[in-house]
Amino acid sequence: MTKKPVIAIDGFSSTGKSSISKIIAKKLGLIHMDTGALYRGITFYAIQNCLNPDKTIDISKLLSSLAEMKLEFQNIDGELQLFLNGKNIDKEIRFPQVSDYVSQVAKEADVRNFLLKTQRDIANKGGIIMDGRDIGTVVLPDADYKFFMTASQDERARRRFLELQAAGEKTDIETVKQNLISRDKIDSERELSPLKQADDAVLIDNTNINKEETIALILSYMKKF
Ligand code: DC
Repeated sequence: MTKKPVIAIDGFSSTGKSSISKIIAKKLGLIHMDTGALYRGITFYAIQNCLNPDKTIDISKLLSSLAEMKLEFQNIDGELQLFLNGKNIDKEIRFPQVSDYVSQVAKEADVRNFLLKTQRDIANKGGIIMDGRDIGTVVLPDADYKFFMTASQDERARRRFLELQAAGEKTDIETVKQNLISRDKIDSERELSPLKQADDAVLIDNTNINKEETIALILSYMKKF
């Protein structure tokens, strides 16, 4: 039997990385892991337990709490959902409040190191498509296939706004766009594992193509499947 591939999909938020990875995983019989969920899980914990009175995150309290956080994915109806200390938090980690804080948490070295092991342990089993920001550059530099996804800021804000609206969140497109811009900046400019295209990753710009076309484009680079 041929070994199942390891695929790294990085890129900007709201380029459809996770939903596209999920569909490709189903098509190819791979596990899909959304690594942003892990950073969101730690951020969710921080919002609940480590907020200063001025609503900033008490980073040293958060870092000293890492050891007591047990983050794991459980397969629920064929989908990996995130659990924190035994509680399913898969829905809560998508709340806008978590999006507002997550980039600050994700730039901490201790947080990244803590999650590096979790990610590599899962990928070691092979047959996985992992999406994030530093998968092709840092987490899985030897991945069989690497893609880097981008789209214009306006298009990404539009998609994210529609998603939030569908989930019943009250927000407006300008607020969503500002959150995207500020996250892009923090994620791309942080010192550790910044968001950037790996030298050997294929660039996928889906500003003007839909989800199905993006999937077809990615699959066209993996002719063996
Ligand atoms: O993909 P997402 O929007 O759910 O990711 C949330 C945040 O987590 C994002 O702002 C940056 C961070 N992240 C990261 O630093 N490295 C990853 N591999 C995945 C996400």
